[in-house]
Amino acid sequence: MLRGKHIVLGVTGGIAAYKACYLLRELQREGAEVRVIMTEAATKFVTPLTFSALSGKNVYTDLWTTNQATDSNIGTQHIEVANWADALLIAPASANTIAKLQAGLSDNLLTIVTLATKRPVILAPTMDADMYLNPVMQQNLTKLRERGYFVIPAAEGEHASGLEGPGRLPEIDVIIRFVDGVLEKAHLDLKKKKILVTAGPTHEAIDPVRFIGNRSSGKMGFALATAAAQRGAEVTLIAGPVSLETPRHVRRIDVESAEEMARAVIDESSRVDAVIMAAAVADFTPEKPVSSKIKKTKDSSRLSLYLKHTTDILAALGKKKRRPLLVGFALETENGRAHAETKLTSKNLDLIVLNSLRDEGAGFGSDTNVVTLIHQNGNVEKLKKMAKYDVAHAILDRVKNLL
Ligand SMILES: Cc1cc2nc3c(=O)[nH]c(=O)nc-3n(C[C@H](O)[C@H](O)[C@H](O)COP(=O)(O)O)c2cc1C
Repeated sequence: MLRGKHIVLGVTGGIAAYKACYLLRELQREGAEVRVIMTEAATKFVTPLTFSALSGKNVYTDLWTTNQATDSNIGTQHIEVANWADALLIAPASANTIAKLQAGLSDNLLTIVTLATKRPVILAPTMDADMYLNPVMQQNLTKLRERGYFVIPAAEGEHASGLEGPGRLPEIDVIIRFVDGVLEKAHLDLKKKKILVTAGPTHEAIDPVRFIGNRSSGKMGFALATAAAQRGAEVTLIAGPVSLETPRHVRRIDVESAEEMARAVIDESSRVDAVIMAAAVADFTPEKPVSSKIKKTKDSSRLSLYLKHTTDILAALGKKKRRPLLVGFALETENGRAHAETKLTSKNLDLIVLNSLRDEGAGFGSDTNVVTLIHQNGNVEKLKKMAKYDVAHAILDRVKNLL
């Protein structure tokens, strides 16, 4: 995948900056065209001259100076570099730069280009084990991952400081393979497709304080939105109440209840090519939510709640004459296949993704999923246990073929 690809290699200030010289050579050997951006701190470890000599190009180090080699205009150089890239690889990525990216800071050329690019951003966090394991660093990495940045897991071993543990720059061939894999996923095969994804639970109000909810974390739907955006789709994500970061280049609409979710999906569905309903929408909602908090009284040992059915969003879309491609999810505890097949036909879906709470590594909150894909034409594919992000790509491969 690297042949002919434009890679911007960002180098930050750390002992491992010298290894980026080898990385640059290897990227070029694989056929990539590389431009290097160094932070000021990186230049304390390795001189720009070394990277310049290796790459045959001037190195970008300063926001306020133009790069003669690329004939850039100072006012637009950062945008020009951001658009030139097929991928941006920051290796080594310092704790400082990772924190800046998490916060959206843009105080040097590297952070500005990272903010400006629409292409995949790959980070190789490299630092002492204690810094790497610090909860704030792990939190920053999680947030960036959720937003759709790719993070190469750090290698373990001995550090220059003598500490042992994770935080080392992975071997060059591991980084090259990772970049290759990212470029393969980001081949924009869903460009110009409009995809609507729903995610998370819904909350059905009992009174202003209490609600009926479910255990959906939203991770599967967010993974689908992230993956679809990486493949070039125009993605709208309708999310129930979840605590997840909005993925890059995704338009997000937040809703609370099943009724709000139904309104938003039905409104948006006429403008999209596919709807993927990964949200766990409540089937029932309190008939009459109470407008003030229900008080506990001495003689109230029981409380009756009357529930009514919510709008069946997929069934409503399935009945439309001109409808987008419809993908549903079925989360079952028993007789999964039979229930999912009934749902597929009764709601007129194109594809249903079945997962069973009984499978280890499937279901709510987990980072992995075990799914069976059941097609309208009767095809059934049982996929092995995978990260939700990889399941998302597998589902999108089918969506692409069906569109
Ligand atoms: C000798 C030395 C080694 C360092 N190694 C690392 C490192 O491996 N990882 C890291 O995150 N910071 C390291 N630092 C700290 C960074 O250089 C510092 O936080 C700097 O502000 C990073 O700036 P940058 O993110 O703009 O490149 C090191 C500092 C020194 C003096």
